Amino acid sequence: MKSAAKLTLTALGCLAGSVLGHGQVQNFTINGAYNQGFILDYYYDKVNTGKFPNVAGWYAEDLDLGFIAPDAYTTPDIICHKNSAPGAITATIPAGGTVVFYWGPNPWPHPYGPIITYLAQCSGSCTNVDKTSLRWVKIQESGINYSTQVWANQVLINQGNKWSVTIPSSLKAGNYVIRHEILAAHGAGSADGMQNYPQCINLAITGSGTKSLPAGTAATALYKPTDPGILFNPYTTITNYTIPGPALWQG
Ligand SMILES: *[C@@H]1O[C@H](CO)[C@@H](O)[C@H](O)[C@H]1NC(C)=O
Ligand SMILES: *[C@@H]1O[C@H](CO)[C@@H](O)[C@H](O)[C@H]1NC(C)=O
Ligand SMILES: *[C@@H]1O[C@H](CO)[C@@H](O)[C@H](O)[C@H]1NC(C)=O
Repeated sequence: MKSAAKLTLTALGCLAGSVLGHGQVQNFTINGAYNQGFILDYYYDKVNTGKFPNVAGWYAEDLDLGFIAPDAYTTPDIICHKNSAPGAITATIPAGGTVVFYWGPNPWPHPYGPIITYLAQCSGSCTNVDKTSLRWVKIQESGINYSTQVWANQVLINQGNKWSVTIPSSLKAGNYVIRHEILAAHGAGSADGMQNYPQCINLAITGSGTKSLPAGTAATALYKPTDPGILFNPYTTITNYTIPGPALWQG
């Protein structure tokens, strides 16, 4: 019964991916400590009561738990999802620490596509940052394993819908936004078929690191609809996948 229901959801999810969405980072851990993320209930709390709990996860109006499509790559929605706004508080993490992102509420239904994570520094607090001023530096990327043909999305599913990212230990202390993103590639063979699911969280990074982020990229310039890693046929043996976005920085 349970697995039949799961299968139905998965099948529906794949067929009706443009209608049904699949997730948000509902919570995250920092070196194992639990933090609540932004969840859809908070959107309705805001509409109904004018307020919602203070969390470090950014507010967004991805009401269908859906995605940003390539035709919106030059709009502010690609920054931290639809009509996003900074989280009211900031989570603290030492440089070298690990954030684990928990995606929910559904089991992630898409086995194809890369997973990428970025950081951008805020000049003051990130809780009131102008999101268009953020310049993003890629700190994690995972595409496909050529020998097994297993994509990062499948690894996420195998891990129980979670993904772990380590903050470079050399990074200078300061206020940063982390932008963690799943790209679901099951439709990437058609123009405008990639699905981007960006999620942002405010982080105060501590420690004695000395390195500043290199010059970053505005979110609206991260991807083009025709990038080789955005528009490609996923239903073939992949031997040269180009992970989208700027170069990886590892500190
Ligand atoms: C964290 O989010 C995941 C994914 O939605 C969920 O399965 C889990 O129950 C949540 N943890 C807590 C403690 O709420
Ligand atoms: C690909 O998967 C194989 C088998 O699990 C593993 O041995 C190998 O290290 C992986 N390659 C990469 C680049 O992760
Ligand atoms: C693979 O390489 C070919 C030839 O260089 C190129 O046209 C294609 O875009 C590449 N595919 C990916 C997914 O990077």
